[in-house]
Amino acid sequence: MSVKIKVQPSGKQFEAQPHETLLESALRSGLSPAYNCNNGTCGECRAKLLSGHLSETKFHDFTFTDSEKQAGYFLLCRNCAETDLEVEVAEAGSVADIPQQAVKAKVKSLEKLNDHVMLVRVRLPRSQTFRFLAGQQATINIPDLEPRNKSIASCPCITQFVDFHVGYNPDDPFSDTIFNQLKVSDPITLTGPEGKFVLDEESTQPKIFIAYETGFSAIKSLIEHAIGIEMTQPMHLYWLSPDEENMYMHNYVRSWTDALDNLSYVGVTGYEETQCLEQGVEKIITDFPDLSGYQVYMSGPEKKMRTMIEKMMAHKLKREQLFIDVQRRY
Ligand code: FES
Repeated sequence: MSVKIKVQPSGKQFEAQPHETLLESALRSGLSPAYNCNNGTCGECRAKLLSGHLSETKFHDFTFTDSEKQAGYFLLCRNCAETDLEVEVAEAGSVADIPQQAVKAKVKSLEKLNDHVMLVRVRLPRSQTFRFLAGQQATINIPDLEPRNKSIASCPCITQFVDFHVGYNPDDPFSDTIFNQLKVSDPITLTGPEGKFVLDEESTQPKIFIAYETGFSAIKSLIEHAIGIEMTQPMHLYWLSPDEENMYMHNYVRSWTDALDNLSYVGVTGYEETQCLEQGVEKIITDFPDLSGYQVYMSGPEKKMRTMIEKMMAHKLKREQLFIDVQRRY
């Protein structure tokens, strides 16, 4: 049976299952607690028990002083909840609270989502995770290649790996290496995270998400986070691509809309590039002629988004309600 955890000072609440550590349940519920190693060594996930009972499940190297123990300090990554709890936790409130990291990792898997897009899954070491907020980017460092900033396609709730979607371009050495040379277990160093393209969780305004081709990666991370925190306001996703093949997780998105009453999805495809952008923005402003009450999150190449932004501004979209993630396709 699950128990309820109340977090101070934010006042957020989440449910924890008896078999999962408090760190796992907090991340699954979309919280951003401070942590690093996930194995009881670094002490960064320290929290303070204000009420309720814990069960310490796993041995840990990190030690608290006697006075810290008496004050109720414990590690989120080594403890489960036996009863409803109230705990004091250091949480990231914004991107400024996430430390810059450099994590030596390895390729866990390479999966072609279609002929043009590769899902690169990076396996993090057991002793170090890569902390980020949903929607942020990381720099991928592969030996002998220029480092490349890419939006993270997975949710911060997963501590073992980080996903990226890389488009194919034979003339780009980074993309060509990903498609034709990189192998499972090859080394990759992740640095970052970067960017302020994160969900405004305080706002109750409905959200419009716009992805252009692999810009879907950042949008995917945001929507998975919105699902984790059980965001209730309406969310509308528009995925644009001249080539239907480049809407490479269409069925996955359909599974979201099947499960969520507050998420709608429109794919705009089948036109040449300029027409696709025009059709996309026309569809959005037809659906929402007055955008003054909406937040808009867009991810894709800068040039492609500029025309759309001008049109949406003409439909009362305010600059402070627009969130942009600029990234190249590959
Ligand atoms: S002790 Fe390092 S994350 Fe818990």
